[in-house]
Amino acid sequence: MKAIKIKPDIYWVGAIDWAIRDFHGYVTTNGTTYNNYIVLDEQITLFDTVKHTFSKTTIDNIKSLVEPSKIKNIIINHIENDHVTSLDDIMALSPDAKIYITEKGKKGLARFFDISKWDINVVKTGDTLNIGKRNLLFLETPMLHWPDSMMTYIKEDKLLISQDGFGQHYASVARFDDEFITCYSVSELEDAVIDYYSNILMPFGILIKNKIAEIQKLGLEIDMIAPDHGIIWRKDPSKILNMYLDMANGKAELRVAIIYDTMWQSTELMTVPIAQGIQDEGVDVKVMKLRAVPNSIAIKEFWKSRGCLIGSPTLNNSMYPTVADFLTYLKGLRPRHRLIGAFGSYGWGGGAVRDIYDVFKKTELEIVEPGVQVNYRPSIEDEEKCYDFGRDFARKVKDYHTQF
Ligand code: FEO
Repeated sequence: MKAIKIKPDIYWVGAIDWAIRDFHGYVTTNGTTYNNYIVLDEQITLFDTVKHTFSKTTIDNIKSLVEPSKIKNIIINHIENDHVTSLDDIMALSPDAKIYITEKGKKGLARFFDISKWDINVVKTGDTLNIGKRNLLFLETPMLHWPDSMMTYIKEDKLLISQDGFGQHYASVARFDDEFITCYSVSELEDAVIDYYSNILMPFGILIKNKIAEIQKLGLEIDMIAPDHGIIWRKDPSKILNMYLDMANGKAELRVAIIYDTMWQSTELMTVPIAQGIQDEGVDVKVMKLRAVPNSIAIKEFWKSRGCLIGSPTLNNSMYPTVADFLTYLKGLRPRHRLIGAFGSYGWGGGAVRDIYDVFKKTELEIVEPGVQVNYRPSIEDEEKCYDFGRDFARKVKDYHTQF
């Protein structure tokens, strides 16, 4: 890869990580990119860095345009490791550059590096910086998705550099939305957006709505959104804003995700009549076994669906470990706007379904009780019970759907 012009005198100088499949536990089946940008104005200004393993890549990209020693400003929009850990390599070449960062960002940065020799300037929402022909406007976005996070708007270019916001984990040759759609498809792009949102931004729907409203109130004209991962939105930035608003408002497909694991196949056998009951109500269904799919993919399918059923056998008087693992991940993402229920099998005392509902009660999900349980192996009568359970759940999903 090389530096790529995104606007006059503004270039992408990032890196493509084709091989990464484990992004702090989030399974990135399509890899990712670490995007950073440089503006060749009177004061040459770099926006963010990249993961440390790609320091040489971004430095080579910068060198293809300008000597790094000429960089005057470095804007750090976010201090997570994938964006900041090559800062010391860049500062070694640009020791006089001034760093602009939020207060919380500065505190965090000091935990990564010895910052005593760096010229660090704390900024907050509404602060501006003139770099020549351009004026930068800083917008703090605390908890979107870290406390330090901010975005930077370049008024003259109508460009929002949005750090993690509006990103996707997708390594591709496309740098822009229109290129991606040509190489792949609109649905592939939307899937990547939902995957990223559900695994990273799901807890912050209210903050996202408020931040988009704040941007609209400021009257910022935006004709390009440049995130720190994935493609840059130049064809239709309103598409990603609308997708985020829809997701923040809880919009999802009329569909049920059945997410389960099984021990001696009894719970698995239950999924068949449950899915049939759902289908017979005219609701789509997606069935996923947890030992066959990573949690991050199951979360995406959960988030795409208006309703979800969790299935587990009883093991040692509680749920199966993979189900517990998934529910821990789900609970941490603070899900809302979804119907949820449970089913499972047991040999003697039971406990899985009870414990699953106990987890549900610690969330803001709409709980459908009671769940359905079978002893040892589903009988014909049990299968009918499962079918009715699926059908009844699908009816509730259809009713719930009309609220959105
Ligand atoms: Fe891409 Fe929050 O780091």
